[in-house]
Amino acid sequence: MQRDLQGKSIIVTGAGGGIGREAAIACANAGARVIVADISAAAGEETVSLIQSKDETAVFVKVDVSNEAQVESLVAQTLKHFGRLDGALNNAGVSQTNVLLHELTADQWRRVQGVNYDGVFFCMKHEIRAMLSTGGGSIVNTSSGLGRVAMPRAAEYCGSKAGVLGITKGAAVDYGENNIRVNAILPGIVHTPMVDALISGPQFAGLLPSLKARHAMRRLGLPQEIATAAVWLLSDNASFVTGAELAVDGGFLAM
Ligand SMILES: NC(=O)c1ccc[n+]([C@@H]2O[C@H](COP(=O)([O-])OP(=O)(O)OC[C@H]3O[C@@H](n4cnc5c(N)ncnc54)[C@H](O)[C@@H]3O)[C@@H](O)[C@H]2O)c1
Repeated sequence: MQRDLQGKSIIVTGAGGGIGREAAIACANAGARVIVADISAAAGEETVSLIQSKDETAVFVKVDVSNEAQVESLVAQTLKHFGRLDGALNNAGVSQTNVLLHELTADQWRRVQGVNYDGVFFCMKHEIRAMLSTGGGSIVNTSSGLGRVAMPRAAEYCGSKAGVLGITKGAAVDYGENNIRVNAILPGIVHTPMVDALISGPQFAGLLPSLKARHAMRRLGLPQEIATAAVWLLSDNASFVTGAELAVDGGFLAM
């Protein structure tokens, strides 16, 4: 096993499940000390126990990323535990409401923007403050193929993920000379609790074959396949990569 993140201090948000859990485990396997951040204490603690069972270091911090004060506290607690912040995967997200845009309420719109877009802003703001004080770092934001193209009844989700691409590039430009790299991962459709909940619901029941068919590789992704890409971007192996949109999508965007 490569220890490409040996000794680094890394925050993973949304680490209680799906892509975030696998990324937290992959970061720990690569030698990082990991802050497992999630709104669900039970889910986050389970991720921590999976990591600690392999004698790696992980600490759970409860956070709602849509709340700036909680995000500021998340970064402060990271510095308290590990003394510095070298990397972050800003991954916490919620899925679309599954209604047409003209039926979407302001609260439904706000829920998705609050977590998926405001949350990434709050995380980056406080992570960058910490990284500026120690000479650099690597930030990875989980956008989506749906930040580039759309699916039906997901306009507010697509908007939030397109926003993440914009703020990623903006920060990459602003902080390149400070040795802070900022990149986005664009997963295709990945087998996680989020997607499993969608495709088991009444609107999407029976749609699995057509979802697979939207990928050149004719299958959905695995959370581990996204985690592997995140570890690479967080590591010094990606030392000249910033402002990038890395599609990890089995050819979803190429179709
Ligand atoms: N699964 C996919 O097909 C897919 C595709 C493209 C992008 N994404 C994105 O990847 C990220 C992870 O998705 P997933 O499929 O693993 O989702 P998931 O629902 O399986 O896991 C998301 C985790 O985020 C946590 N979370 C939710 N709201 C939060 C908040 N306000 N503050 C902190 N934590 C919060 C949840 O408790 C959960 O543990 C999301 O940003 C999602 O939009 C997923």
